[in-house]
Amino acid sequence: MNDKASTSRRTARLHTPTSLGAEATRDISGALNALLADFFALYLKTKNFHWHVSGPHFRDYHLLLDEQADQIYATTDPIAERVRKLGGTTLRSIGQISRLQRVLDNEADYVTPQDMLAELRDDNQQLVARLREAHATCDEHGDVASASLIEVWIDEAERRAWFLYETTRKSE
Ligand SMILES: [Fe+2]
Repeated sequence: MNDKASTSRRTARLHTPTSLGAEATRDISGALNALLADFFALYLKTKNFHWHVSGPHFRDYHLLLDEQADQIYATTDPIAERVRKLGGTTLRSIGQISRLQRVLDNEADYVTPQDMLAELRDDNQQLVARLREAHATCDEHGDVASASLIEVWIDEAERRAWFLYETTRKSE
Protein backbone atom coordinates (compact mmCIF):
# COMPACT_ATOMS: atom_id res chain seq x y z
CA MET A 1 0.00 0.00 0.00
CA ASN A 2 1.37 3.41 -0.88
CA ASP A 3 1.73 6.20 1.69
CA LYS A 4 -1.25 8.12 0.41
CA ALA A 5 -3.59 5.14 0.66
CA SER A 6 -2.48 4.29 4.18
CA THR A 7 -2.85 7.93 5.27
CA SER A 8 -6.36 8.15 3.83
CA ARG A 9 -7.28 4.86 5.53
CA ARG A 10 -6.07 6.21 8.87
CA THR A 11 -7.83 9.59 8.48
CA ALA A 12 -11.05 7.79 7.48
CA ARG A 13 -11.23 6.77 11.13
CA LEU A 14 -11.82 10.44 11.97
CA HIS A 15 -14.91 10.70 9.74
CA THR A 16 -17.65 10.62 12.36
CA PRO A 17 -20.93 9.51 10.77
CA THR A 18 -23.32 12.43 10.29
CA SER A 19 -26.50 13.01 8.32
CA LEU A 20 -25.20 16.40 7.18
CA GLY A 21 -23.52 16.29 3.77
CA ALA A 22 -19.81 16.51 2.99
CA GLU A 23 -20.23 20.14 1.98
CA ALA A 24 -21.86 20.98 5.32
CA THR A 25 -19.04 19.22 7.19
CA ARG A 26 -16.46 21.20 5.23
CA ASP A 27 -18.12 24.62 5.49
CA ILE A 28 -19.25 24.44 9.11
CA SER A 29 -16.02 22.84 10.33
CA GLY A 30 -14.05 25.57 8.56
CA ALA A 31 -16.14 28.30 10.17
CA LEU A 32 -15.98 26.68 13.63
CA ASN A 33 -12.23 26.05 13.50
CA ALA A 34 -11.55 29.70 12.61
CA LEU A 35 -13.80 30.71 15.52
CA LEU A 36 -11.98 28.29 17.81
CA ALA A 37 -8.67 29.96 16.91
CA ASP A 38 -10.29 33.35 17.65
CA PHE A 39 -11.57 32.15 21.03
CA PHE A 40 -8.11 30.86 22.01
CA ALA A 41 -6.45 34.11 20.86
CA LEU A 42 -9.03 36.22 22.71
CA TYR A 43 -8.68 34.02 25.79
CA LEU A 44 -4.94 34.62 25.93
CA LYS A 45 -5.27 38.35 25.22
CA THR A 46 -7.83 38.67 28.02
CA LYS A 47 -5.49 36.78 30.38
CA ASN A 48 -2.55 38.90 29.21
CA PHE A 49 -4.49 42.04 30.22
CA HIS A 50 -5.68 40.37 33.45
CA TRP A 51 -2.04 39.76 34.35
CA HIS A 52 -0.66 43.13 33.27
CA VAL A 53 -3.40 45.61 34.14
CA SER A 54 -2.34 48.26 36.68
CA GLY A 55 -3.64 51.40 38.35
CA PRO A 56 -6.34 52.54 40.76
CA HIS A 57 -9.04 50.18 39.40
CA PHE A 58 -6.75 47.20 39.47
CA ARG A 59 -8.96 44.92 41.52
CA ASP A 60 -12.12 45.58 39.47
CA TYR A 61 -10.42 45.20 36.09
CA HIS A 62 -8.27 42.26 37.14
CA LEU A 63 -11.34 40.35 38.36
CA LEU A 64 -13.56 41.35 35.41
CA LEU A 65 -10.99 40.13 32.92
CA ASP A 66 -10.51 36.86 34.77
CA GLU A 67 -14.24 36.23 34.73
CA GLN A 68 -14.37 36.96 31.01
CA ALA A 69 -11.34 34.79 30.26
CA ASP A 70 -12.97 31.86 32.08
CA GLN A 71 -16.13 32.25 30.01
CA ILE A 72 -14.16 32.41 26.75
CA TYR A 73 -12.08 29.36 27.64
CA ALA A 74 -15.21 27.39 28.52
CA THR A 75 -16.44 27.66 24.91
CA THR A 76 -13.33 26.10 23.36
CA ASP A 77 -14.05 22.45 24.13
CA PRO A 78 -17.69 22.57 22.94
CA ILE A 79 -16.57 24.20 19.65
CA ALA A 80 -13.89 21.58 18.99
CA GLU A 81 -16.23 18.71 19.91
CA ARG A 82 -18.95 20.14 17.68
CA VAL A 83 -16.50 19.94 14.75
CA ARG A 84 -15.79 16.30 15.56
CA LYS A 85 -19.52 15.52 15.80
CA LEU A 86 -19.88 16.94 12.28
CA GLY A 87 -17.21 14.58 11.03
CA GLY A 88 -14.54 17.27 10.69
CA THR A 89 -11.14 17.52 12.34
CA THR A 90 -10.20 20.37 14.61
CA LEU A 91 -7.16 22.27 15.88
CA ARG A 92 -4.03 20.44 16.90
CA SER A 93 -1.55 23.12 17.92
CA ILE A 94 -0.79 26.68 18.97
CA GLY A 95 0.88 27.08 15.55
CA GLN A 96 -2.41 26.26 13.84
CA ILE A 97 -4.22 28.79 16.06
CA SER A 98 -1.75 31.49 15.03
CA ARG A 99 -2.36 30.74 11.34
CA LEU A 100 -6.16 30.83 11.65
CA GLN A 101 -6.82 33.54 14.25
CA ARG A 102 -8.38 36.82 13.15
CA VAL A 103 -8.17 38.38 16.64
CA LEU A 104 -4.93 40.38 16.68
CA ASP A 105 -2.36 39.74 19.42
CA ASN A 106 -1.17 42.62 21.58
CA GLU A 107 2.41 42.10 22.76
CA ALA A 108 3.03 45.72 23.79
CA ASP A 109 5.18 46.20 26.91
CA TYR A 110 2.63 48.56 28.44
CA VAL A 111 -1.04 49.16 27.61
CA THR A 112 -3.17 51.60 29.60
CA PRO A 113 -6.18 50.06 31.37
CA GLN A 114 -8.56 52.14 29.21
CA ASP A 115 -6.92 50.89 26.01
CA MET A 116 -7.03 47.30 27.24
CA LEU A 117 -10.76 47.45 27.91
CA ALA A 118 -11.53 49.30 24.66
CA GLU A 119 -9.51 46.80 22.62
CA LEU A 120 -11.25 43.82 24.20
CA ARG A 121 -14.64 45.49 23.69
CA ASP A 122 -13.87 45.82 19.96
CA ASP A 123 -12.54 42.25 19.77
CA ASN A 124 -15.71 40.90 21.36
CA GLN A 125 -17.88 42.94 18.99
CA GLN A 126 -15.95 41.60 16.00
CA LEU A 127 -16.33 38.12 17.42
CA VAL A 128 -20.11 38.64 17.51
CA ALA A 129 -20.06 39.56 13.80
CA ARG A 130 -18.06 36.43 12.94
CA LEU A 131 -20.33 34.26 15.06
CA ARG A 132 -23.32 35.64 13.13
CA GLU A 133 -21.61 34.75 9.83
CA ALA A 134 -21.00 31.21 11.09
CA HIS A 135 -24.64 31.03 12.20
CA ALA A 136 -25.71 31.87 8.63
CA THR A 137 -23.50 29.04 7.33
CA CYS A 138 -25.15 26.61 9.78
CA ASP A 139 -28.60 27.81 8.67
CA GLU A 140 -27.74 27.18 5.03
CA HIS A 141 -27.02 23.55 5.84
CA GLY A 142 -29.80 23.05 8.39
CA ASP A 143 -27.31 22.48 11.24
CA VAL A 144 -29.61 23.62 14.05
CA ALA A 145 -27.41 22.22 16.83
CA SER A 146 -24.35 24.30 15.88
CA ALA A 147 -26.61 27.33 15.31
CA SER A 148 -28.13 26.91 18.77
CA LEU A 149 -24.69 26.77 20.44
CA ILE A 150 -23.56 29.80 18.46
CA GLU A 151 -26.59 31.77 19.71
CA VAL A 152 -25.41 31.27 23.29
CA TRP A 153 -21.84 32.31 22.40
CA ILE A 154 -23.20 35.47 20.72
CA ASP A 155 -25.14 36.35 23.87
CA GLU A 156 -22.03 35.80 26.01
CA ALA A 157 -19.80 37.90 23.72
CA GLU A 158 -22.42 40.66 23.72
CA ARG A 159 -22.46 40.57 27.51
CA ARG A 160 -18.67 40.88 27.64
CA ALA A 161 -18.78 43.79 25.16
CA TRP A 162 -21.50 45.47 27.25
CA PHE A 163 -19.48 45.21 30.49
CA LEU A 164 -16.34 46.47 28.73
CA TYR A 165 -18.28 49.32 27.18
CA GLU A 166 -19.81 50.42 30.49
CA THR A 167 -16.48 50.11 32.26
CA THR A 168 -14.74 52.37 29.71
CA ARG A 169 -17.45 55.05 29.68
CA LYS A 170 -16.41 58.49 30.80
CA SER A 171 -18.46 59.73 33.76
CA GLU A 172 -20.94 62.45 32.78
FE1 LIG B 1 -5.31 35.08 37.67
